[in-house]
Amino acid sequence: MGMSDASFDAVVTMFEKVSGIRLAPVKKPLVEGRLQRLAVEAGQPSLDRYVEQLMRGESPDELTKVIDKLTTNETYFFREPQHFEYLARWLKEHPPRGPFRVWSAASSSGEEAYSIAMLLADQLGQRPWEVVGTDLSTSVVETARRALYPMERARHTPQAYLKRFCLRGQGEYSGQLLIQRALRERVSFRCANLMQPLPSDLGQFDVIFLRNVLIYFDAPAKARIVSRVIGHLHDHGHLFTGHAESLGNLDLRLRAIQPAIYTHG
Ligand SMILES: C[S@@+](CC[C@H](N)C(=O)[O-])C[C@H]1O[C@@H](n2cnc3c(N)ncnc32)[C@H](O)[C@@H]1O
Repeated sequence: MGMSDASFDAVVTMFEKVSGIRLAPVKKPLVEGRLQRLAVEAGQPSLDRYVEQLMRGESPDELTKVIDKLTTNETYFFREPQHFEYLARWLKEHPPRGPFRVWSAASSSGEEAYSIAMLLADQLGQRPWEVVGTDLSTSVVETARRALYPMERARHTPQAYLKRFCLRGQGEYSGQLLIQRALRERVSFRCANLMQPLPSDLGQFDVIFLRNVLIYFDAPAKARIVSRVIGHLHDHGHLFTGHAESLGNLDLRLRAIQPAIYTHG
């Protein structure tokens, strides 16, 4: 099922308005592929008719489905291990005096947030700590709350953590893992759009993971997101970005400590 250039442009404009991400013209086949099933499920005979219906704005639920389909949610446990190694070292050298809060600011389906939680449970045990995950996409937030994952997503997880914090699925759940309840209770997920004002009760964090999301934005949008996000970072807190996402040429009050690790400048 193909889509006219006009329909594609309408989708691009709508998606940019909601998410801040501008889809390049080369993404047209990908957009067609991702929206095809939604069009069929909505009973529309063509993608153009589906987009036409979408643009009438009569169904916010349909719009949410489209946003979910167009976001790229690739993630896995213990991705970019340097950040986890740094955090473990830092916690050993600077045991926190009060509650320790970490934000996974584009958490996708939750693997990053639960990886952080495993490390905090290991380093801080019963001391007060929590992890908050947020994402634009409602469907990944629901997946994160379920905490049930295909085993292969955990292939970079230390064996000791797998044994301690994950339950191996049996029967119909074979090949999957469930994050242990005690860990799940310290991790919460909610929807938040980094392009818009953040929830007023989000609070301040000791560490913010803002990884593999800035790549989708141009420099001005990136700067706006980072300054909004670091408004929630404690004075001596750390910001982690993806290793492919340099903040070097943005005019922000941040100091690089190591590649992809920053603190207030
Ligand atoms: C590639 S995943 C990164 C997941 C994880 N941080 C990691 O590094 O593995 C990017 C996530 O950013 C989310 N995202 C994209 N635009 C966003 C926005 N404007 N606000 C919040 N989240 C957004 C997507 O829904 C997606 O789940």
